[in-house]
Amino acid sequence: MLIPFNKIYYTGNELRYIEDALEKGQLTGDGEYSGIVCSFLEKKFGINKVLVTTTATHALEMAAMLIGLRPGDEVIMPSFTFPSTANAVLLQGARPVFAEIREETLNIDPLDIERKISQKTRAIIPVHYAGNGCELERVIELADQYNLLVIEDAAQAVNARYRNKYLGTWGDIGCYSFHGTKNYICGEGGAIAINSQHNGLLEQAEIISEKGTDRTRFLRGEREKYSWMAPGSSYLPSNLLMAFLYAQLEQLDDIKSRRKIIFNYYSEHLQSYLGQGIIKGISRIPSGCDPNYHLFYLLFPNERVRDKARALLKEKGISALFHYQPLHSAPMGRKLGYQAGDLPITEGISSSILRLPFYTGMTAAEMEYVVEQIRKVIKEL
Ligand SMILES: Cc1ncc(COP(=O)(O)O)c(C=O)c1O
Repeated sequence: MLIPFNKIYYTGNELRYIEDALEKGQLTGDGEYSGIVCSFLEKKFGINKVLVTTTATHALEMAAMLIGLRPGDEVIMPSFTFPSTANAVLLQGARPVFAEIREETLNIDPLDIERKISQKTRAIIPVHYAGNGCELERVIELADQYNLLVIEDAAQAVNARYRNKYLGTWGDIGCYSFHGTKNYICGEGGAIAINSQHNGLLEQAEIISEKGTDRTRFLRGEREKYSWMAPGSSYLPSNLLMAFLYAQLEQLDDIKSRRKIIFNYYSEHLQSYLGQGIIKGISRIPSGCDPNYHLFYLLFPNERVRDKARALLKEKGISALFHYQPLHSAPMGRKLGYQAGDLPITEGISSSILRLPFYTGMTAAEMEYVVEQIRKVIKEL
């Protein structure tokens, strides 16, 4: 059996909606499906206003522009994340300040956030790893206490909740991804949730995403013409991609249920290996979280054992992957003055984590095969 790490899941309506968009001649951004997707997300998650974007990377970039980051500013985030989280800040000339994660959740540690707050701190970016919510009440308390803004990197956390409130709706701004490897996909895509009503954030967001113009207001009939208003870029996804995405969102909760079955299967069958030496940890649902079951991981004692497990699984036709290379010790992180050893928990997790194949359409036979082979691999290690 060959088990890929990820596989695209089609709900069945993707082509029909794309055809509909083509028939209506709507290929650019600002089409009907973009509007439908925004309204859907607003209603389902209870968001003040959503704008769809080309990627979550771009949603994060927009967020950094929107809060007016400047050279000299600092933004606290985990090092255990995708480079996009830090790039958004760097591109505005500001500095990412990396905080530790907690071993139990792989999410940012609020105690370390507080230690790292300085006179220059402007914002915090909690990243909801694996679709598990960070300890948001504490993050928001800190933000209120020190007058900071919160941008949630909810790239992995579409349709997940923390204390019954959807992720991406807790902070001033939330950023989502619809990349082909996520739970709800359109190849490349994202969205920005504007939760805060402060400082005309929404009007600014519309301007930034439309090349720095007030074209969105013009399209709504609120302007006779549109003009260049501010610095901006082009963050609008094609209506064709939004047609694809809508077919996925229509089955939002069905997709979540299917993924929950896979998560529970892995969890139930691999639980017994915990504490027996080889498996140091497995995916768990932290308290207060209703996740979207984005991924499943195992933690090995060290990098050598992890890499050997991965190679043995590969021999058996199973593709298992790891991530993230900690940002602070990556070449760019070192250029910023950070070094290996700065964040020991992050480094330990990063070198011992192995992600198992996980995709919505995974069959029972595929799950059984993966678990069976892991049992064998554990004996061979
Ligand atoms: C935590 C996090 N932030 C941002 C991104 C970037 O998402 P996108 O590929 O939609 O730009 C990813 C992608 O994997 C991610 O995991």
